[in-house]
Amino acid sequence: MPLVVAAALGCGVSLSAQDGAVDFEKQILPVLKESCFKCHEKEKEENGRIKKPKGGLRLDSAAAIMKGGKEYPDGNVVAGKPDDSWLLKTMSLPESDEMAMPPEGKGDRVSAANQALIKKWIEGGAKFGSWKGVE
Ligand code: HEC
Repeated sequence: MPLVVAAALGCGVSLSAQDGAVDFEKQILPVLKESCFKCHEKEKEENGRIKKPKGGLRLDSAAAIMKGGKEYPDGNVVAGKPDDSWLLKTMSLPESDEMAMPPEGKGDRVSAANQALIKKWIEGGAKFGSWKGVE
């Protein structure tokens, strides 16, 4: 593929991480914590009110990340298929899109470099290592 096209597709971004598998706990979890956890954690009580995960989707455990929520009950991550993985799709939509995550103005967007990393992690089989997260 011509270099210009490769650059436009963001191929260069993931090159540095090309050798070795992506480590979920070290490289991906911090990204999800930063941009997604405040709305997608296990149900908890906050100031006397029950706060439920938005869209029924939790991202704070390996099982929950794979399982999906209300609209995508078939799963948010399909191992080996980044294009079918809503976890990645929603964060790569333009901010103005109503399905974009985090919703417009409601949190830190995931950088292109970190999106590339998540793509590589999904392509590599979406493995969590020993990390299980919150039961
Ligand atoms: C400020 C709150 C907020 C943040 C931060 C947020 N989300 Fe969401 N998310 C929502 C809401 C609200 C919905 C439900 C949307 C709906 O039902 O129309 C949702 C739904 C989703 C869904 C669809 C769930 C399903 O299966 O039906 C996915 C996937 C998702 N979010 C991923 C993410 C990811 C990945 C991040 C971090 C990059 C993130 N969200 C950050 C509020 C948030």
